[in-house]
Amino acid sequence: MQANELKIEIDFNKLGFEIVQTEWMYVSYFKDNKWDDGKIMPYGPIEIFPSANILSYGQGIFEGLKALKSKDNHILLFRPIENAKRFNISAERLAMPSFDNNKFLKAIEEVVLLNKKFIPPYNSGGALYIRPIMIGSGPMLGVAPANEFMVMIYCSPVGSYFNAEGSGIELLISKKYTRSSQGGTGYSKMCGNYAGILKPAKEAKKLGYDEVIYLDSIHMKYISEVGAANFCTIIDGKLVTPKRDGTILEGITLKSVLDLAKKELKIPVRERDISYEELFKPNCTEAFCTGTAAVITPIGSITYGKKRKEFNNKEPGEITKTIYNLLTSIQRLDKKDKYNWVEILE
Ligand code: PLP
Ligand code: COI
Repeated sequence: MQANELKIEIDFNKLGFEIVQTEWMYVSYFKDNKWDDGKIMPYGPIEIFPSANILSYGQGIFEGLKALKSKDNHILLFRPIENAKRFNISAERLAMPSFDNNKFLKAIEEVVLLNKKFIPPYNSGGALYIRPIMIGSGPMLGVAPANEFMVMIYCSPVGSYFNAEGSGIELLISKKYTRSSQGGTGYSKMCGNYAGILKPAKEAKKLGYDEVIYLDSIHMKYISEVGAANFCTIIDGKLVTPKRDGTILEGITLKSVLDLAKKELKIPVRERDISYEELFKPNCTEAFCTGTAAVITPIGSITYGKKRKEFNNKEPGEITKTIYNLLTSIQRLDKKDKYNWVEILE
């Protein structure tokens, strides 16, 4: 088996968040009630029936994690076991079979090491973004779970998700659209959750914003999260983030940030309802979003109807910078990883 050997002509310093083709991917099939052993294949198109469940009924989930280079050229993953666990939380919500955590981790390691020439160097600040997905691939006419599934894992070198990691993004609080609701699929990384936010994001971008902040669907008042990242703000010197109540994707970056704030920086953390009105008050001094793709992205401004607030002249605030530096230096092992979050692959 041979992959198309791709010549590397990538400018690792100029990467955004677009797919760059790499050489190898992992595929595993679920048939007759069990997963096969899985195999590595050249990255390329796959065949599925038009009647595959994913195509009509959207039975599909995904994950996202990054392989990073350390200063001394080791290849690192950040808390991949958390992605493995969340993959199964999402699978359970979508009536899909669970996928063994060790198999998931091993497959990720294989995909990363086979594609290691695509991992951006330490100095570029980039990463190899790894995308595990599971789809209902079995044919289905009535609305019911598929009986065949596929897991695929591929990767792509990436730079920053928003155009400007380091300077503040401009966010629009949506009065019109919500992302999730109680009892829904918000806590899972279900593909459809992202299909539903394409139009709101497109409209916001047309108006000059980078992304949308969603509110809760009952009151249209409390902050939920940003399209593909969690939301944090600093109010009266405390780090405040929305309660993880089943409507929010429980971010691994968020969980790490909350731990670092509490344990390392001694910043009080509050998980509670945050009304959008609070963000416009003077005691709300910083805001940022967290995610694998977003890392820690400072929020430069928020807008709700005619109300607009700029944080810190759109520059990252002091606490945001401190948290960014601490998290990213642990992720690249510039600082001691005392929580054992980082896996060294090589
Ligand atoms: N919220 C949503 C909707 C996301 O898609 C993501 C990205 O995975 C996050 C939050 C952040 O999660 P994590 O920090 O695990 O990447
Ligand atoms: C991630 O941060 O890994 C995400 O999944 C966000 C993504 C939808 C780009």
